Amino acid sequence: MSSSAPKVYPPSAEFAANANATADMYDRAEADPMEFWAEQARRLDWETPFDQVLDWSDAPFAKWYLGGKLNVAYNCVDRHVVAGKGDRVAIHWVGEPGDSRDITYSQLKDEVSRAANYLASIGLQTGDRVAIYMPMVPEAIVSMLACARLGLTHSVVFAGFSAAALRSRVDDAEAKVVITTDGQFRRGQPAPLKTAVDEALGTGDDAAASVQKVIVVRRTNHDPDLNWVQGRDVWWDDTVGEASPDHEPEAFDAEHPLFLLYTSGTTGKPKGIVHSSGGYLTQAAYTFHTVFDHKEGRDVFWCGADVGWVTGHTYLVYGPLSNGATEVIYEGTPNSPDEHRHFQIIERYGVTIYYIAPTLIRTFMKWGRAIPDAHDLSSLRLLGSVGEPINPEAWRWYHEVIGHGRCPIVDTWWQTETGGIMISPLPGVTECKPGSAMRPLPGISAKVVDDNGADVADGEQGYLVLDRPWPGMLRTIWGDAERFKDTYWSRFAEQGWYFAGDGARYDDDHALWVLGRVDDVMNVSGHRISTSEVESALVSHSAIAEAAVIGAADETTGQGIVAFVILTEGAESSGDELIAELRNQVATDISPIAKPREINVVPELPKTRSGKIMRRLLKDVAEGRELGDTSTLVDPGVFEAIRAQRA
Ligand code: WT7
Repeated sequence: MSSSAPKVYPPSAEFAANANATADMYDRAEADPMEFWAEQARRLDWETPFDQVLDWSDAPFAKWYLGGKLNVAYNCVDRHVVAGKGDRVAIHWVGEPGDSRDITYSQLKDEVSRAANYLASIGLQTGDRVAIYMPMVPEAIVSMLACARLGLTHSVVFAGFSAAALRSRVDDAEAKVVITTDGQFRRGQPAPLKTAVDEALGTGDDAAASVQKVIVVRRTNHDPDLNWVQGRDVWWDDTVGEASPDHEPEAFDAEHPLFLLYTSGTTGKPKGIVHSSGGYLTQAAYTFHTVFDHKEGRDVFWCGADVGWVTGHTYLVYGPLSNGATEVIYEGTPNSPDEHRHFQIIERYGVTIYYIAPTLIRTFMKWGRAIPDAHDLSSLRLLGSVGEPINPEAWRWYHEVIGHGRCPIVDTWWQTETGGIMISPLPGVTECKPGSAMRPLPGISAKVVDDNGADVADGEQGYLVLDRPWPGMLRTIWGDAERFKDTYWSRFAEQGWYFAGDGARYDDDHALWVLGRVDDVMNVSGHRISTSEVESALVSHSAIAEAAVIGAADETTGQGIVAFVILTEGAESSGDELIAELRNQVATDISPIAKPREINVVPELPKTRSGKIMRRLLKDVAEGRELGDTSTLVDPGVFEAIRAQRA
């Protein structure tokens, strides 16, 4: 788009006049943060009101809304039925093959109650963990809410993860139940899923010790000989389907752990991020209302994320449903059966608020504007972006081609750990700059600092830190409080700040630009993948002695995974075959989404005298840049060979 494009995009007078957000919220939150957060929590229905907003005396272990008791599922479902909104559609679900279901709040209440009754009937107790390994079917959401209703802590595992990845998560959480489907649709074809559960849970001596039941939703019905473990496996229809739709919810402590969600860090195995009930739901409800300007009974919201990621938790389940929203949930990929799918869905349901990742926007750009132009997108009134920095070009395209220049865009920065949106424009209030997440939300405080914790000048790059607690903050890492302190709170321990792992800068107008991870975490299509996990998968192949993995800039996916590997002595470099085996190894150990875009077999890796691999330099090579400072390398000549290999 031309260089004459505007630099800032102020909200229209019309949008501003009706916006949920108001400019004075910043000052109000600043003047009395505890009162502000109490006010946000009052969006929820508390069975017992809280008597203290925050206890931070044992920092970084926070307690929010002390004394308060609530039931999260009641807040997301029953409450709306009780208020006479039972006939409102909660979920317009669209299956990949084109089947669809509309589920009202009343129906959702019945389904969630049935599932809760069944889970209770098999002896699950408050605090037990349930793993949910499912594609985007309504039962995934019903399962999450049924857990919430009983005070069971759910752990949703993205259905694209491998059996090995599922097993490590089931073991770490000691899940008693796994809920899954027989299969899932992928680009028009049924693909098995339960087989991965069988493989993950193992048999005999190798069996996952904690798991007592596997509940299977029939989705694809593709396999007449589906493996069945008697006594362990049950069909959803025969169990949940037969249970009573009446269930009386019990209230739980605000700090009761609502869910675990595993995410990749810089080292070691994935961490089970623990989220609370009252604080998390407050953050979800507040941000959904304010950032998405949600108008009850009028809007149709669509978040394109998968329920296996935090975006799916907060903006497919807890945020929209706690606000009584009507939302779209789509099972499949955006190009199945063809590239028109998303736009047809927007048209069909009159979607008003649309929230996706920049990687998808860039994919739409590649497909060309003729595709969205073929559809009536006039229902849209607000667009959102999440998961990675959005480049200004994609922002402008989104604004013009999808939003027809009419819709504000909220570029929302947050993380699995923050529970909900933290930095974003306020629609109707903020003058947006394409590419900037603009400003922390009212009640949230962020700084950009140097190594010593001093504010960097506007325009300079630094580390993004959150210098005040917030209700949706993670409470700990499951089973590893030390790692929790170490990972997030040790870098700026003296100041007591949360270190997000991102670099950022404020510009001259004090707008915040998030620049991406400064640690060994990659962001591929908005998915968080650790370099060390991919490296371990690669070296687990017998032909590989050493591996170094980096995220290199990629036009569509944000970053692409590039690996450099050294063969073991005597291993034959059998070219393409080995590369294919290595890619499979990564898919098996982690997920197909972690497969490297490029694998280079090299004679040596660039190392410092202390033996540290200089990933920064490998990134320079992969991105085709001049090498940065090589003076600490043992053998700067190593790059000749690496370059020769890539040429
Ligand atoms: C990392 C968190 C937030 C839910 C999805 C990802 C990056 C996220 C933005 C944004 C720039 C962003 C950060 C962050 N990120 N949103 N709007 N602008 N970067 O959750 O898997 O926990 O990843 O995603 O690097 O640290 P996650």
